Amino acid sequence: MEKNRRTINCGQLTIDDVGKTVTLNGWIHRNRDHGGVHFINLRDRYGITQIVIDEEASEELRNTASELKMEFCVAAVGTVRARPEGMVNKDMATGEVELAVLDLEVLNSCLPLPFMVDSEDEVNENLRLKYRYLHLRTQGMRDRIKMRHDATWAVRNYLTDKGFWEVETPTLIKSTPEGARDYLVPSRVNPGRFYALPQSPQLYKQILMAGGTDRYYQIARCYRDEDARGDRQPEFTQIDLEMSFASRDDVLETVEGMMVKTFKDVLDVDVPTPFPRLSWQEAMESYGSDKPDLRFDMKFQDFAPFVPNSEFGVFKSVLESGGTVKAMVVPAAAEAYSRKKISELEDVAKSRGARGLAWMKVGAEGLDGGVSKFYTEQAASIKDNLNAKEGDLILLMGSDWKTAVTSLGAVRVKLGADLGMTKPDEFKFCWVIDFPLFEKNEETGNWEPAHHMFSMPQERFLDTMEENPGEVLGDLYDMVLNGNELASGSVRIHDPAIQSRVFDIVGFPKKEAEERFGFLLEAFRYGAPPHAGLAVGFDRMVMVMARMDTIRDVIAFPKNTQGISPMDNSPSHVDKDQLADLKLAIIRDKQEDPA
Ligand code: AMO
Repeated sequence: MEKNRRTINCGQLTIDDVGKTVTLNGWIHRNRDHGGVHFINLRDRYGITQIVIDEEASEELRNTASELKMEFCVAAVGTVRARPEGMVNKDMATGEVELAVLDLEVLNSCLPLPFMVDSEDEVNENLRLKYRYLHLRTQGMRDRIKMRHDATWAVRNYLTDKGFWEVETPTLIKSTPEGARDYLVPSRVNPGRFYALPQSPQLYKQILMAGGTDRYYQIARCYRDEDARGDRQPEFTQIDLEMSFASRDDVLETVEGMMVKTFKDVLDVDVPTPFPRLSWQEAMESYGSDKPDLRFDMKFQDFAPFVPNSEFGVFKSVLESGGTVKAMVVPAAAEAYSRKKISELEDVAKSRGARGLAWMKVGAEGLDGGVSKFYTEQAASIKDNLNAKEGDLILLMGSDWKTAVTSLGAVRVKLGADLGMTKPDEFKFCWVIDFPLFEKNEETGNWEPAHHMFSMPQERFLDTMEENPGEVLGDLYDMVLNGNELASGSVRIHDPAIQSRVFDIVGFPKKEAEERFGFLLEAFRYGAPPHAGLAVGFDRMVMVMARMDTIRDVIAFPKNTQGISPMDNSPSHVDKDQLADLKLAIIRDKQEDPA
């Protein structure tokens, strides 16, 4: 390699370099033979340079050029010259010059390609994942991997400036209670015992606070045994942070600053602060979601006042049984939304448990279609109160509160996308605060922590939280961007007595608590400071920044939706000897594939 080592990269040459002799290393991006002249686009991470093998070149050189296939890895030595008039490519950084090749060495050949690397064409995703090294050569992946790097860099700089230390926490640990299943790692030296891979560094960062670290962060890898989806991977990355002697607002302000710096440095986008704050209740009431997309409005409105004076029985009985009737005005959608298209919206609502979706359209005179005949007399007042205009579509949902808001919320999200209101270039952040601390598990009837068990109840609920756990609000917060939950955090419990009461409410046996995280409870008994923190889903953040729909597109080596990596085929079977070393045996179902 010494001989034809590059002296410059493929994105660097300009008109000022004309006359120089340089060596480029890279891949054959395109090879066109124009009547014996080879125009080759040579590509590396930095860009593309056109290299030319002229008709007058030696036969050997021309032969080598005609054998070059896509993605061969080559070294080219040549003289930089200006492109002839009319051949200048303004869209290319190196578009004013080309390299007249004097010598060409094939560093490595390439098998026929399973897909073209110069386009982002729809290629079967498993194929892209199997040949990830080829997909990583596409401009899109290259740009996103760089964006990831740039974002980490911005975050590290920002947090370092604010006095945070990056501390690594172990990845072979005792299980963390984040609510998903743990990945387990058997211990050979302690047969029958297992480590868990961390679902997050939660317990360790709290112990760092007990250790006086004061301000901690980590670009941390987390592992959760849950089904992969567009925004979920079994292993993913968090910007995890924790602050001592800090209040909720200290955390929110710090993280807002981090977002401002990251979006500015990486995208040159100015993110306005402070981010709007919505209580969980408000977010659910107005948008039917705890991660509302604020790029468009379409807030829900109360339709209950119009129900009693109408003959529409469905809504009456909803209200009588303590339910909710909500209206959503879809601007200028009356014409575009035929019965058929409305029934597609209804299907979305039904998939979230609603029985149906009622509608009416605002006409020149009054209300038309759907359930409008039940509201003829109230038409003017409905239009006025809902601020609906001619040509608007009004959607109505009546059900128990939770089903009503969440199903209408799902319809709102679909409409946002269908009507082109979710512009990828707009970044609308908000905080959702004041979450309930506990949620009732409808199947078991038990109270469960809404976030995790270490979050602090708000002070006003402290004395009475056992009386009605469902009403207790926690000092919890989520950061939301364009309808994605980007981050989650809380003020933590640092008082062992409060912690113990929370365990009792969620029915977590004291013995098990001691066994599983006695070490944390013990640490709290040694003067642990008040502390608060949060974790940003780093992959999700980069996904939104890169305007992509799945986090798989911003991770170098993701798993597919079945949790498999098609490139190395993990997870895989292991040798009997490996199992024997670990004193493990596999119990096989008959249907399963044999090892
Ligand atoms: P939480 O579980 O809400 O909180 O996770 C924080 C953020 O991490 C992202 N996230 C994921 N991203 C990709 N794939 C996944 N499977 C996945 N799961 C979560 C989300 C989420 O908002 N220890 C607490 C944080 C804290 O309280 O400080 C925690 O992990 O963007």
